[in-house]
Amino acid sequence: MFLIIAIDGPAASGKGTLAKKLAAQFGLRHLDTGLLYRAVAKTLMDAGQPLSDVAKATAAARSLDPSRFDDALKSRAVGEAASILSAIPEVRTVLVTFQRQFAATPPGAVIDGRDIGTVICPDAPVKIFVTASPQVRAQRRAKEFAAQGQAVDEAAVLADILARDERDTTRKVAPMKQAADAHLLDTTHMDIDAAFRAAVELVERSRR
Ligand code: DC
Repeated sequence: MFLIIAIDGPAASGKGTLAKKLAAQFGLRHLDTGLLYRAVAKTLMDAGQPLSDVAKATAAARSLDPSRFDDALKSRAVGEAASILSAIPEVRTVLVTFQRQFAATPPGAVIDGRDIGTVICPDAPVKIFVTASPQVRAQRRAKEFAAQGQAVDEAAVLADILARDERDTTRKVAPMKQAADAHLLDTTHMDIDAAFRAAVELVERSRR
């Protein structure tokens, strides 16, 4: 059965892990759309170009090659740059096409990002907005960075997360927002297994 599950939420909310697990559970493909913005940002960074260069950013978005995405995209610096660059409307327009094509390919997909339930797949039958308190998100992200060998101070990660929330929710085009028909999943007091069980229940309830 064709199915699209739209997962949105702020940085380090656990939406990526959750989306991956849901895709495996329901036999769907998975797209982490943050990687698209990160890859465009990293292309500009590697070329020494400013993130505000609309023409270069748009060209980079057009020539993205997801088969070459790697772990370097997961760094803190690239995440920050992606948040800044993602406010450029022309870049978003180019990336919309890729995301909608991915969504439309059978058997469907679990797609995670900031604007999936509101802009990319507004008709998705299941939408989940995953969140957690900024402090808990900062703890989780600091642990991930440490596991990758990136030494970071938790207070600095919290400051990044707050700045990112502010930027991602206040930009003019496709700001991060819970869709009116999205289920809110607050994972502040849940581990990933509990969040996964709650999400599976939401998906199954919507199919009954
Ligand atoms: O989910 P992430 O941390 O990998 O996303 C990095 C940045 O990319 C995020 O701060 C804002 C932007 N982004 C976006 O604007 N829209 C999306 N659907 C996904 C990410």
